[in-house]
Amino acid sequence: MQTHNPQENLHKVLHKVLIVGNGGREYALGLHLKQDSRIQELFFTPGNAGTALLGTNLTLPHNQDIVEFCQKEGISWVIIGGESALVGGLSDELRARGISTFGPSRAAAELEGSKAFMKDFVASCGIPTARYIQTSDPQKAKDFARSLSLPVVIKASGLCAGKGVIIAQSYEEAESTIDNMLSGKEFGQAGECIVVEEFLSGYELSVFGICDGESFTLLPPCQDHKQLYNGDKGPNTGGMGAYTPSPLCDEMLLEKIASRIFAPTLAGMEKRGTPFSGVLFAGIMVVDGEPYLLEFNVRFGDPECEVLLPLLQTPLLDICHAVESKQIAALPITFRQGYCVGVVLASHNYPFGSSTPHPITIAPFDSTLGHICYAGVSPNKVDSSKKVDSSKGGEKVDFSSPLLASGGRVALAIGVAPTLAKAKHNAYIIANCIAFEGKVLRTDIADKALKA
Ligand code: AMP
Ligand code: GLY
Repeated sequence: MQTHNPQENLHKVLHKVLIVGNGGREYALGLHLKQDSRIQELFFTPGNAGTALLGTNLTLPHNQDIVEFCQKEGISWVIIGGESALVGGLSDELRARGISTFGPSRAAAELEGSKAFMKDFVASCGIPTARYIQTSDPQKAKDFARSLSLPVVIKASGLCAGKGVIIAQSYEEAESTIDNMLSGKEFGQAGECIVVEEFLSGYELSVFGICDGESFTLLPPCQDHKQLYNGDKGPNTGGMGAYTPSPLCDEMLLEKIASRIFAPTLAGMEKRGTPFSGVLFAGIMVVDGEPYLLEFNVRFGDPECEVLLPLLQTPLLDICHAVESKQIAALPITFRQGYCVGVVLASHNYPFGSSTPHPITIAPFDSTLGHICYAGVSPNKVDSSKKVDSSKGGEKVDFSSPLLASGGRVALAIGVAPTLAKAKHNAYIIANCIAFEGKVLRTDIADKALKA
């Protein structure tokens, strides 16, 4: 029998990798890949001023530009960070030109691209999820909303950059939300169809499966902190901090998530001719010890990716390759012992609007405590040539940072340690070393687990 070992080839070749996206997640992917001696060169599109320190940022606005660049440059892997490129079919266009790509097809990305599709699919597979209807008919939506107890959850079906979910505290609010979404005023096309569903009360987990269309491997469970303020108060955001592994998810719960959610999803997607390959992110609500699926995302979470990768021992390149060659079941994916906590530092208008750019200053810190992941940053053209040390409040501040906080989630302080408490401590030491005007952060990341 002929033996063909694709991993063998992987080890011999030097790779040029293109990462698509501009957030902390893409920075973290780049930082991880940078440690792999098989990586010859890293590119980002569009990237941010932080990723420019790891590789080359490129402006490639259309899928066709990306394909042409990959062909011209001899890119061996494209890793797609965010959902919009996946829902826009970038992975299909790359694969059609023979370019190895980590990320699901456009058809499989519908699990995130359409909440209406996702709910119908999940229900047809018997996966536990909140009771719902999906409809474009305001009267049907309102009747169903009134049949549920308060609060009621209303979701725009399409992609809304994390803003399309409203938890209505009264039926009047539910009805006006339904009218707003369906009129197209609030979310445009994304709100032409909506999902109305029952509110599930419990605690949330983010669980990631590396999937090759047939098999999957679950990564250590994470917990995100979606609301802006401590104690889960205030508006929903993309995520204000995360940690892993979460002690709120034991082996038994993870096994239920694998068998009740991931296994039927992969089997169902394969059966309908749209097998899922890449990272499948299940947003889980745990209600009385039982997992319910809130949502699927078809990519790594942000900030979950930033806390998973520092503990990941298996090179990402090997994972990409195992996914592509449908050998994920044969690849041991290992994580080092310990915990990782990530604290988001956002600018003062987040999540409502943009902010005036302000210089970032970073006081020196012990690099064994952790590191910084950069997200909403742009080049500090004025200061990049200067290197000034000054004393402020008895603390030595290094003004050499070439970066401006340009809005949204600016950076993450990542703490790593043998215990969760110490990882949190380390993350906040680093968070306190990062200064910019209007900095907003939660001070209770990981407390749900630490206080449990
Ligand atoms: P989604 O984008 O569907 O994950 O929703 C964003 C956030 O809204 C989730 O992370 C939850 O905090 C909340 N959420 C969504 N659906 C529900 C639900 N059925 N019950 C309770 N909270 C929900
Ligand atoms: N942290 C949640 C998300 O990436 O959607």
